[in-house]
Amino acid sequence: MKQLELSPRLALIAGWVPPGAKLADVGTDHAYLPVWLTLHGRVASAIASDLRKGPLERARATGRTYGAEGIDFRLGDGLAFIRPDEADTIVIAGMGGENIAAILAAAPWTADGRHTLLLQPQTRAEELRRFLMDHGYAITREALACDRGTIYPVMEAGSGEMTLSLGQLWGGAKLLRDPLGDRYIIEKIIRLQGAVAGLNRSAEPADRQKADGLRDILTALLAMREEWRHANCP
Ligand SMILES: C[S@@+](CC[C@H](N)C(=O)[O-])C[C@H]1O[C@@H](n2cnc3c(N)ncnc32)[C@H](O)[C@@H]1O
Repeated sequence: MKQLELSPRLALIAGWVPPGAKLADVGTDHAYLPVWLTLHGRVASAIASDLRKGPLERARATGRTYGAEGIDFRLGDGLAFIRPDEADTIVIAGMGGENIAAILAAAPWTADGRHTLLLQPQTRAEELRRFLMDHGYAITREALACDRGTIYPVMEAGSGEMTLSLGQLWGGAKLLRDPLGDRYIIEKIIRLQGAVAGLNRSAEPADRQKADGLRDILTALLAMREEWRHANCP
């Protein structure tokens, strides 16, 4: 039987799944994570769900290829077909931050503190952090994974109060000690500087206003970068 190796991004998430968890992996696609966790005896049960039939077929195929037994493959939008008592650990990884936020918003029971949420936005992580802050969730852990040259944030969240500064919304809630934190912040600064330069070329007053908003974020990120340097290069 072939051995399944997880990418650094999925390996980071796998390491945060509590041993013996009742797992729900939402947007599972190839189901590498639930298959790996099942094969390594790390979960008591696993639901692998996806919105679309094609990815769910791929998920089943991964299960067959690696001989993982007992995974519950489900077609459905977000958490709509998963009852709160069927899982204690919910992974939503590999999609946009706004999509992850929409999935959580449609299942408000995820904010009641009975579930460990492991969230990995591919884009718009700041929108997800803001959603969590505004809807009764708190980020308890955050780390960065470098996978084929791209840096991905992974967040663990539960119920709670959290206030994040503009810099933390964009540069990470708990990344001050992360070895990749500097690079993560610099990449954001470079992208935002490009966006500001583009908006500055526009004659539209609305674009100028947008550029002002982005400049505030840039200032906050530059301050965060200084904080990271002080924390890591004393
Ligand atoms: C890029 S894949 C990520 C696969 C895996 N989670 C990972 O991190 O490697 C994103 C998957 O999320 C699924 N997806 C997107 N929106 C969804 C939703 N609202 N509910 C369930 N699945 C969704 C897509 O069909 C796709 O298969």
